[in-house]
Order: sequence, then structure tokens, then C-alpha cells
Amino acid sequence: MLMRTADLPERDRYKILSGTVLPRPIAWVSTIDKAGIPNLAPFSFFNVACSNPMTLMFSVGAADADKPNGKKDTLANIEAIPEFVVNLTNEETAAAMNLSATILPHGQSEFAWAGVTPAPSLTIQAPRVAEAPVAFECTLQQIVTIGSAQAGSSIIFGEVQGIYLRDDIYQGGYIHLDAYRPIGRLSGSGYAYVRELFEMPRVPAP
Ligand SMILES: Cc1cc2nc3c(=O)[nH]c(=O)nc-3n(C[C@H](O)[C@H](O)[C@H](O)COP(=O)(O)O)c2cc1C
Repeated sequence: MLMRTADLPERDRYKILSGTVLPRPIAWVSTIDKAGIPNLAPFSFFNVACSNPMTLMFSVGAADADKPNGKKDTLANIEAIPEFVVNLTNEETAAAMNLSATILPHGQSEFAWAGVTPAPSLTIQAPRVAEAPVAFECTLQQIVTIGSAQAGSSIIFGEVQGIYLRDDIYQGGYIHLDAYRPIGRLSGSGYAYVRELFEMPRVPAP
């Protein structure tokens, strides 16, 4: 089957992308607004961008029509206070991560709704999620707008200034997956465990 993107409705474009580019990691992003009220939301259009300077990126899509300025709170907060924490989620925190995607009125914190605890960050004002196994404290590097913020997506790049790793996960300079127990996002409400592994060493040139 060969298709031209121009012939596809937007819903099908989303379904094809999110159903094929997977499993995706999930950025569980905490921010604060100007009054210091924390916000928390998951984003699976997310990945690493660079290791030096250490940089992450995630994509914020258009908001529901009822949001002020047509922007999700995460984007509005980062534009006001240019920093955020990318918490990573795992098997233990998956349900809380999912709860934090509930659309609450601006100013009402998803931390309480999801039953997780804000913990002070080392380098920025926005708190991390105390229960998250890994957290990257970021300052905003740049926002690249694809289409428009209201009808397209805002790709947010953050430079990592501080890192939290739960002690049992990071030992001897290595990440221990059996302690970390990460999850991946599939399409719709599907998720994957990272349990059935295989190794494939790189092949040197002949
Ligand atoms: C697992 C998961 C992944 C998500 N990924 C994205 C994403 O990549 N981009 C996006 O705009 N929304 C994504 N969402 C939806 C947002 O989390 C949702 O719109 C959230 O309520 C936005 O919150 P905010 O207004 O507090 O920023 C995702 C939701 C879930 C549950």
C-alpha cells in the first residue's frame, strides 16, 4: 500500500505515526506557572536530542479548545518560566502517569490528582516527581514550532542541568533495567514492558 499524505485526514496521519513509531519513551514533564503552581503531564512524542550538551526534546500538540491561548499548560508554563523536569515513568508509576494526563483547569495541579509528590530539584525551580525513578532537570534551549502552536506542535528542547537516578537503578556506572522497569507507549491506550531482551553486538568492518 502506498499513500500520499495529502490524501489522508489528520486523524489517520496521527494513527499511522503513533501506531508505527513505537514503543515510544514517555516524558513525564513537570513545570511551574508564574505563581509557582506545579503542573504535570506525559508526552510520548519524546526522545534524546544530544548528549553534549545533554539535551532532550518533546512535542506538545494543539490544546483542546477550552484552554486559554489554545496552548496546553505545559507549553504555556515553559514560555512563562523557561525550565522543566523530564521525569521518566516505569511499571510502578504508570498508573499515576496516566492519571496526570487528565485535563484539569489551569492552576489545578496534577500532582495531587495523580497522587504523586513534588520534590525539590537541584538546579531549577520546577519540582521533580519524587516517585519517578529518573528525572532530568532542564532549562529551555529552544522551541521549534511545526505548523502553528494552536494547530500543529511545539517541539521543546531542554538542556539537562541536573539528573536524579534512584540509587538502585544506577550502580557501578551502569543503568540496571531490572530495577528501573521502564515502559513504552504504543498506540491508543496500549503500553509495552521492556522485558524480553536480545543482544546484537556491532559488527566490525572486514
Ligand atoms: C502516555 C501519553 C502520552 C502522551 N503524549 C503526548 C504528546 O506526545 N504530545 C501531546 O501534546 N500530548 C500528549 N499526551 C496528552 C497530554 O498528556 C495531555 O494533553 C495533557 O493533559 C496535557 O496537559 P497540560 O495541559 O497540563 O500540559 C499524552 C498522553 C498520554 C497518556
